Amino acid sequence: MPSRNIGRGPRGRTKAVASRTTPPAAKRAPRVRTRTGHARGLPPTYYTSPEIYALEVEWIFRREWLCLGRADEIGTSGDYLTLDLLGEPLIIVRDAASAVRVLSAICRHRGMPVTSGAGHARTLVCPYHNWTYALDGRLLGAPEMNHTPGFDGSQCRLPAIRSEVWEGFIFVNFDAAAPPLGPALAPLTALVRNYDLTAMKTVRTVPFDMECAWNWKLMCENFMEPYHHVGTHRKSLEPHLPARLAVTLDPVGPFSVVHMPYRTRGASADGDRWGMPPFPEIGRLTADERRRVTLLHVFPLGLITLLSDHVEFYRVFPEGPGRIRLEKLICVPPETAARPTFDREVGRLIDGFLTIRDEDVAICRAVQRGLVSRFAEPGRLCHLEEAIGQFARYVAGRIPDPRGRRRAASLTRRAPA
Ligand code: FES
Ligand SMILES: [Fe+2]
Repeated sequence: MPSRNIGRGPRGRTKAVASRTTPPAAKRAPRVRTRTGHARGLPPTYYTSPEIYALEVEWIFRREWLCLGRADEIGTSGDYLTLDLLGEPLIIVRDAASAVRVLSAICRHRGMPVTSGAGHARTLVCPYHNWTYALDGRLLGAPEMNHTPGFDGSQCRLPAIRSEVWEGFIFVNFDAAAPPLGPALAPLTALVRNYDLTAMKTVRTVPFDMECAWNWKLMCENFMEPYHHVGTHRKSLEPHLPARLAVTLDPVGPFSVVHMPYRTRGASADGDRWGMPPFPEIGRLTADERRRVTLLHVFPLGLITLLSDHVEFYRVFPEGPGRIRLEKLICVPPETAARPTFDREVGRLIDGFLTIRDEDVAICRAVQRGLVSRFAEPGRLCHLEEAIGQFARYVAGRIPDPRGRRRAASLTRRAPA
């Protein structure tokens, strides 16, 4: 079986996380078995229905830990960047004490986002009427408001959104009562230890300057299954990362892990081929880690690729049932970023990535269109798609069946011909 356990993970802990966020059993969406040979994907409507997307927002995005980026993107006190997540303008900022904070950008006065873009500041000043906030969100000043009876600026601050930094990745959770993220990711922490992710530097952010008209789950599934190397990436990835060599680990937490060994043992340094390391290998990796690419999906949105010389991260913003926004972050060890040849090497890496990206974009757009068809159905999964089954079970276990107690199959019933 192409499946392995990554160690003694806290299965009980995962169960505890699920119980808090899981709707009553009678209302749950379709049961999706994950063992290969039996698994199917989610019903097509899960990729196209505004009703189901609204349930995902309520039951998943507003309750689960969402990965937003890297702590080193705001390296020093006063650095900030802004993001629009699920219609919420957010400020990610490193405060005066160098702590990472995630704040609502919405001014307490009349709703103006106090800042946009990214930069460095000592305070956050709303451009509308100059209300001024500290980097931790406290209101420091509000012109002329001393004449407003009963106004108490000390009670006024930008709302804080709960956040955690795991291995240098910033996660947020809109649910103040959610269990902490760190313990749930403990088995994954052990798996990534040799990559020293916390020390890595984000050296490039590659925007997707295009319409990404496909569902967020389709993005995650395409990212995590190596099966499509034999088709979509037949000439690009498959020769170096053959699909049939991939191994999906057994689930031990709210994440999936897929190892993709290179065809040739001993890494070649041909940087013109995506997936082959253009930089010096990370020194602490084991022989096995040097010979493979590892895909991590931290549910629901964290898509991370571990390579022998660098790490990549997809920043995914769901924007509806059939649309996402995307950025790709490239992270390297500090010593790699300091190489005199680095600019040329990273340029070559990104050129290779763009080739693969375009292959995936064409497929994802086409599949999204296909899933609207009355003839679309959740087909049987290949053993190389086990991570899709794991993710489907996660999704189906969290959102209620929009039709109450009816069987999930009703969601896939074909329209009359
Ligand atoms: S809306 Fe921000 S100061 Fe008025
Ligand atoms: Fe792909």
